[in-house]
Amino acid sequence: MNKQIIINGSHNRNGDTTKLIQEIYPEIASLKLIDYTIEIYNYDETYSDKDQFLKIINQLIEVDKIIFATPVYWYSMSSLMKIFFDRLTDLISSQETIGRKLMGKKVSVITSSIGNHLDDNFFLPFIETANYLHLEYIGGKHYLKQNNV
Ligand SMILES: Cc1cc2nc3c(=O)[nH]c(=O)nc-3n(C[C@H](O)[C@H](O)[C@H](O)COP(=O)(O)O)c2cc1C
Repeated sequence: MNKQIIINGSHNRNGDTTKLIQEIYPEIASLKLIDYTIEIYNYDETYSDKDQFLKIINQLIEVDKIIFATPVYWYSMSSLMKIFFDRLTDLISSQETIGRKLMGKKVSVITSSIGNHLDDNFFLPFIETANYLHLEYIGGKHYLKQNNV
C-alpha cells in the first residue's frame, strides 16, 4: 500500500490552495475540510449526529501518507484546519482505538500564502502534533501564490 491523501484546509473551495494542490499533486486524492461538518472540540468529546470528524479519520486510516495543505491566515494554519487539529484530541482519549490506527503514517505539509515572511517555525504545530500522535513528520514547504498557476 502506498496511498496518499491531501487534507485541504482552505476556506475557499476553488482558491489558491486548491489550485496549488492541482498543480503539484494532480494525481493524489484530496478532501476539503470545508465540505465536512467538524464541530469544535468540547471537553465531553460528545458531538451531534451532524459531526463528520470520524468520517475524515476513517479515510486517513486507509492511506500511508497524509499531506496537509493549508492557506496561511494570519501567520497560522487556517481556522478550519485548527478545528480539525483540536479534534485530534479525541483520538488519544474517547476515540483512542481509532487513533491507534493512525500511528506510523507519514505526514507532510504545504502552505499557500502571499507574503514571503514564513520560515520553518510555521510547521511547529504540525511537527509536534505528529510526534505526539506517533506519526512520522517528513517535511513542510511554503508556496507563494505568485509562483502558482
Ligand atoms: C484571513 C486571511 C489572513 C491571511 N493572512 C496571511 C498571512 O498572514 N500571511 C500571508 O502571506 N498571507 C496571508 N493571507 C493571504 C493568503 O494566505 C493567500 O491569499 C492564500 O494563497 C489564500 O489561499 P486560499 O485561496 O486557499 O484561501 C491571508 C488571507 C486571508 C483571507
